[in-house]
Amino acid sequence: MNALPRHIAIIMDGNGRWAKRRLLPRAMGHRAGMKRMMELVDRTFSMGIGCCTVFALSHENFLRPKEELEELFGLFREYFSSETASLKERGISLKIIGDRGPLPADIRALIASAEEDTADGTRGKLAIAIGYGGRQDIVAACNRLVGKGEPVTEQTFRETLSTGTMPELDLLIRTGNEMRLSNFLLYESAYAELWFSEKMFPDFTVRDLEEAIDDYRKRERRFGRL
Ligand code: IPE
Ligand code: IPE
Ligand code: MG
Repeated sequence: MNALPRHIAIIMDGNGRWAKRRLLPRAMGHRAGMKRMMELVDRTFSMGIGCCTVFALSHENFLRPKEELEELFGLFREYFSSETASLKERGISLKIIGDRGPLPADIRALIASAEEDTADGTRGKLAIAIGYGGRQDIVAACNRLVGKGEPVTEQTFRETLSTGTMPELDLLIRTGNEMRLSNFLLYESAYAELWFSEKMFPDFTVRDLEEAIDDYRKRERRFGRL
C-alpha cells in the first residue's frame, strides 16, 4: 500500500455541462462547483493530505466570453472575501498560481491579502490555479533561471515553478469525462498517478475523492524501476 498522497491536484471540469443538463445557466454550474470545491478541499486536509492544487481557470479560459468570465470573477470575489478567515483558522496557507494580470484589480487585491493573511499556516497548503497554464509556467521559470547564469538542475527548475514549495505531485484527478491535461501541471505530472472521473465536477462527491485516494494507495508506483 502506498502512503497517503502528499500532494493531490484536481482539474475541476464539467460545471457548464452539469448546468446545461439541468437547463440552468452555466453560472449556476460554476456556483455548484465552487461549493463542491470547498467540501473536497476540506476533506483533503481532514484526511491528512498536506497539499492540494485545484484548477479553477486556465490561461486559455481567459478567451471565454466576457459574460462568463464576469460570473467567474464574481465567484472568486465571494470566495476570497468569505473563505480566507476560515483557511487561516485551520492553518492552511493559500497561494494563487497563474497569471493574475488579466484579473480585475479588486480581485488581485483580495488575492494578495488572502495570501498574506494565511501565509503562516503550517497545517496545509492550498494552491488555486487561476489564469494558469503549465507551458506558461515552464517558460516563466526558464526566464527566471536564465538570468542567473548557473547550470539548471532538475531540482532548481522544479523549485522555480509556481508549485516549487510543494512536494512532488502524487495524484492528479480530472472530472468532466475528458482524458487530457488541458495545460495543467505539465512538468509536475511526470510521475503523478492519474484518475479520470466521468462525473461533472459538481457531482463529484467527497466519497468519489475517497475512492480515488483508495485506488491510488493500491497502485504500484515503479518510477521506471523493476
Ligand atoms: C470547468 O468547467 C471550470 C472552468 C473551466 C472555469 P467548464 O466551464 O469547462 O465546464 P464544461 O467543461 O463546459 O462543462
Ligand atoms: C480545464 O478545463 C480548465 C479548468 C478546469 C479550469 P477546460 O474546460 O478549459 O478544458 P478543455 O478546453 O476542455 O480542454
Ligand atoms: Mg470544460
